[in-house]
Amino acid sequence: MNLAVVGAQWGDEGKGKLIDILSQDSDVTVRYQGGNNAGHTVVVKNKEYVFHLLPSAILHKGKICVIGNGVVIDPKALIGEIKELEGKGLKVSPKSLKISGRAHIVMPYHRILDGLRETKRKNKIGTTGRGIGPCYADKVTRCGIRMIDLLNPEVLKAKLEDNLAEKNETFSKVYGEKDFPFGDIYQEYLDYGKYLKDYICDTAFFLHELIEKKKTVLFEGAQGTFLDIDFGTYPFVTSSNSTVGGIGPGTGVPPTKIDKVIACVKAYTTRVGEGPFPTEFPEDFNDQIRTKGNEFGATTGRPRRCGWFDSVLVRYSVILNGVTNLAIMKLDVLDNLEEVKVCVAYKYKGKTYKTFPEDLEVITKAEPVYETLPGWKDSTRGVRDFKKLPKNAKAYIKRLEELLKVRVKYISVGTKRDEIIVR
Ligand code: GDP
Ligand code: IMO
Ligand code: MG
Repeated sequence: MNLAVVGAQWGDEGKGKLIDILSQDSDVTVRYQGGNNAGHTVVVKNKEYVFHLLPSAILHKGKICVIGNGVVIDPKALIGEIKELEGKGLKVSPKSLKISGRAHIVMPYHRILDGLRETKRKNKIGTTGRGIGPCYADKVTRCGIRMIDLLNPEVLKAKLEDNLAEKNETFSKVYGEKDFPFGDIYQEYLDYGKYLKDYICDTAFFLHELIEKKKTVLFEGAQGTFLDIDFGTYPFVTSSNSTVGGIGPGTGVPPTKIDKVIACVKAYTTRVGEGPFPTEFPEDFNDQIRTKGNEFGATTGRPRRCGWFDSVLVRYSVILNGVTNLAIMKLDVLDNLEEVKVCVAYKYKGKTYKTFPEDLEVITKAEPVYETLPGWKDSTRGVRDFKKLPKNAKAYIKRLEELLKVRVKYISVGTKRDEIIVR
């Protein structure tokens, strides 16, 4: 059975932890979009690992990890991640990691352009500054450089020359910045190619062969549904399809081969970067939950904005992703509150919205309509059986199931691998 895990809010739902757990029962774990804008945390015993490009299954011996063609790869960051793991005594080899030759490469000018665009814009997106948007833009403009090109000096030379001619003109004329010298980048990227060459293959063929042999595949989404380039709160989104639909073009595995989709959500909501957030807490409560939930970006360290659970938002995610089950993470962060709230509708200019509106103005200015439930003045951290959760915590989960019309299968109550309830 092939399973997909997608973020159903604005990212950082706890996908890394869930993938680490679920990948124990799959043969292969595949990233299909995004790049090192992602930060997926896995905690084993007391050690914390944060993965940006490597799939979060990489800690399991004997499992295969794949970086699909839909991912944008910053080779410097990827090699850094591989070396960091090796420094901790974990071997990464071309047997355990496969990288698509078709994946596009983040170049130094993408990273710089990402930053420059942000500083010039009045309405900032608050990107991670990793060059993700400019890299995907080049992919679509058809001037991108791909992993496979790193293995062919002639092709890399021709592509880089073409790109630099155009980029350097933009950098000097639009931004008043220095030129990028050809020689330095060319040599640097040829060296990355030499380092990564044994990992590079046609991952679409590779995955099809495994699926033919009835091996099981786990697809690891990065970001979240409302950061999706099409369905997110555009323009405050990332540049790829983080919804389940991204899997086909991002891996070459067709939708007919995906059997189940798990939506990963927090028991509340967070967002990092700019953009609308209807259920955002007032400042003092925001600080309290941020501290309790350690809500600081795994990639940039930025403080995350926090708010109540928004069922209007997540219900749309359930529909868009064809979700079969839900995983609710970080329930423990809501322990010991007097009451908890769930947003069940939005109100704007006298109109009530029970489904997620398309218009950014509505999403930005809408007043959330809340349902208030009693809190559970107890700790959930040690609980491993749904029945043993505090009564009001069970009622909270059941109310979410009713609102979202989908069954909650996993409830996470702490950062560690074993701090999970499976129903
Ligand atoms: P991802 O991007 O979806 O993989 O999520 P991140 O790793 O960016 O952020 C999730 C954070 O929550 C990480 O620091 C995790 O260690 C932590 N976490 C995951 N599940 C739980 C949980 O059930 N309870 C608590 N307290 N922390 C959790
Ligand atoms: P994971 O996989 C949370 C946000 C950025 C910014 C917007 C665009 O860890 O859930 P980008 O650098 O992609 O152009 O930034 O998207 N963003 C994320 N927010 N989690 C992520 O990934 C994110 N990846 C990008 O903060 O608002
Ligand atoms: Mg994250």
